Amino acid sequence: MTRFHKIIALLCALVAALVVTIFRMQIGIAQRSDPAQRVERGRHLVENVAMCAECHTPRLRSGALDRSRWLQGAPMAYKPLGETPWAPLAPAIAGLPGYSEEQAVVLLMTGQKPGGAACLPPMPAYRLSRDEALDVVAYLKSLPAGR
Ligand code: HEC
Repeated sequence: MTRFHKIIALLCALVAALVVTIFRMQIGIAQRSDPAQRVERGRHLVENVAMCAECHTPRLRSGALDRSRWLQGAPMAYKPLGETPWAPLAPAIAGLPGYSEEQAVVLLMTGQKPGGAACLPPMPAYRLSRDEALDVVAYLKSLPAGR
């Protein structure tokens, strides 16, 4: 093989690698924005990572979360001793009533409500990435709003 052929072969290999990489990236982007997968990832974050249901779902007498009223809002079972700002109720978040997608994403990325105020404790000031927040919001919006 001449030197020229080697260079051509090398260039071909580089172009092939580039094409494969771009193709993979496009599959990745398509997967990330696929609505069904967003909802599924959001469900996982809500149920197993951020544990939103621990506060936002009422409990049965046994203490277990009441699946028939999933994320329909619940009174806080406890409050701190002394004078601390505290919300006695975690509102319904199934269907995210009153929140646009963008407002809810901002809340989950910054802890700020529409208008800029912070939520009262014990609502955590989450710092989700935009992508995670979009997943959580897609899941919550997929649920029927409260009765
Ligand atoms: C430790 C308990 C707790 C957890 C965990 C929790 N929340 Fe909350 N959440 C609250 C309480 C209490 C409020 C009411 C705060 C207030 O009145 O300012 C609230 C308020 C909210 C609100 C309404 C804010 C408003 O406009 O007043 C939204 C939306 C919300 N939570 C979503 C979520 C999501 C989504 C998750 C999980 C990613 C989550 N919460 C996890 C306790 C919790």
